Amino acid sequence: MCGIAAIASHKSVAKQLYQSLLNLEYRGYDSCGMALMDQNKLALRKNIGNVGEVNDKEHFEELKGNMGIAHTRWATHGGVTSENSHPHFSNDNSFIIVHNGIFSNYQKVQKELLNKGFTFQSQTDTEVFANLLQDEYQTTLDIETAFCQAIERIEGSYAIAMITLHQPDTVFAVKKDSPLVIGINDGANYISSDMNAFISETRDTVIINDMEYVMLTKDDFTVKRLADKQSVSKQIIHVQWDKQTAQRGGFSHYMLKEIFDQPQTVRQALHIPKEEIDTIADKFLTRKQSFCVGVGTTYYVAMIGTYLFSKYAGLYVPNVSADEFPAIIPVSDDQHVLFFSQSGETYDTRMAIRAAKSKGAATSAIVNVVGSSISQEVDNCIFQGSGPEICVVSTKAALSQIIILWQIVLNVGLKNGSLTQEQVDLYRENIFEFSRTIETVLNEESGNIRNLAKETSHIKNWLFMGKSIYYPVALESALKMKEVTYLHAEGLPSGFLKHGTLAMVDENMYCLFFIPTKETKDLYESTMMAIEEVKARKGKVIGFCTDDDTEAMNLLDHYLVIPDKHPELNFLVEMVMAQLLSYYCALDLGLNIDKPRNLAKSVTVG
Ligand code: AGP
Repeated sequence: MCGIAAIASHKSVAKQLYQSLLNLEYRGYDSCGMALMDQNKLALRKNIGNVGEVNDKEHFEELKGNMGIAHTRWATHGGVTSENSHPHFSNDNSFIIVHNGIFSNYQKVQKELLNKGFTFQSQTDTEVFANLLQDEYQTTLDIETAFCQAIERIEGSYAIAMITLHQPDTVFAVKKDSPLVIGINDGANYISSDMNAFISETRDTVIINDMEYVMLTKDDFTVKRLADKQSVSKQIIHVQWDKQTAQRGGFSHYMLKEIFDQPQTVRQALHIPKEEIDTIADKFLTRKQSFCVGVGTTYYVAMIGTYLFSKYAGLYVPNVSADEFPAIIPVSDDQHVLFFSQSGETYDTRMAIRAAKSKGAATSAIVNVVGSSISQEVDNCIFQGSGPEICVVSTKAALSQIIILWQIVLNVGLKNGSLTQEQVDLYRENIFEFSRTIETVLNEESGNIRNLAKETSHIKNWLFMGKSIYYPVALESALKMKEVTYLHAEGLPSGFLKHGTLAMVDENMYCLFFIPTKETKDLYESTMMAIEEVKARKGKVIGFCTDDDTEAMNLLDHYLVIPDKHPELNFLVEMVMAQLLSYYCALDLGLNIDKPRNLAKSVTVG
């Protein structure tokens, strides 16, 4: 996740663009830059560091011109270097672009361009698109056509803004699976990843949909569909937010914003280039034994990995909590360990990496922060590109890791013959559709979850239960509840209940069940049996169940429904619902949600 901004104005834009970068900094802050058009010349300044640091070096406000683009980066491809920061020029310096997202086929397109004699100054996927524009323009000699044809040649997620010497009064922009909005003002128009970029100038905004492109001048804008190049009439929305609210995208806390970011981070995770997935998948196939390792939330991601590998690739991949890993795992050079870390700095995970490496094991990681220690210590790293996760508790970063992990599992399953290509394609489609499902569920169920939180936030003791892959979801959801509400929430496998914990159950005990869809028959029935066990002891039972599950609804004291879409993805829909439940309970209790007591975002001590 990065932030992009563009302005076309009757006045000089450098100062306003710099302000836009400051307002967008929460979307990424490893490097930034801006390019302005002045008297048919493009001037570029960019460097590494946060927006203020880069400005101290580059003095953005010295740039001249009434039109420009700017970018603040959260690296996904290519390290944190000045060359990799945006904007990026085409080879002939006639096009310059900023991009938020991932071009998943950039290596293939780059090869085609290299064969045509193009050269590249950076390691980014973005520079490929700048040169694609030049390539298309050489044959079409029309900017709009070149822009649309270049888009047809790329895959992945993107919000792009471009200016060019060939049409110096227009900013071009387009989006797919990454956000893009327009701001409308007297004498100036704006394009950005979110309205926060221009909130101090205007609150009149237009939301751009996927596969729409924009041509924007200082006095006007046109939005067209990529499919048929026809104009789309757009409604101008007037927003009332103050600046701080805008920074959180209108949400009252970063936790809520990050929960609602998840449909986008899932789609972004689906666009991780295949080569990166392949490299780590091959380690699972070539090494005798692999492990999944994380700590806290990322340990639960690792646990989910064990279930996914078993189901889709027929492999037993044990999960281990990073803090225990050095003590119990006798790693050797025929083994491989996949680590998960949002921050890339967690002490326990770093010690586990050291232990694995000291025995010669291969190491891989899925990490959110480019340049972090863990990303540098492992042999292979996938950067998840989820954007900064500001709330101390992890939500979107964990879900994104699960989606990337799932792609690795599918890749392993395909290569070892457990899955066919058709099955893999179908699962990928379902994961994509899941991103839409959580969008719907978040929008439609928030009110119900909020009401349930109001009724239950006084509860001091919770048991969170699930079976099979719903078990790590129960653990993760209990951790979320503990972190933000400071209440006691114990996660356990529902089959474990009768082996001891049932002794605690009476009318004061609240149990939250993660119920699978009925299609999973045995799993469903054994979860229902655990619910009956609690009911028989007068315990209170709350559950997430599918909208057609009348049996569960009749049994539960409170229920929250989810659509019965794809049984294999329901556990993740329920995980997202449980994040919201924790959030609303903490809200009801008036707690410091984004910075819970005693916790830190990056745990760098042992
Ligand atoms: C998650 O909500 C927690 N804040 C915590 O458990 C966290 O997941 C853990 O410390 C690992 O952090 P990492 O992903 O940055 O390595």
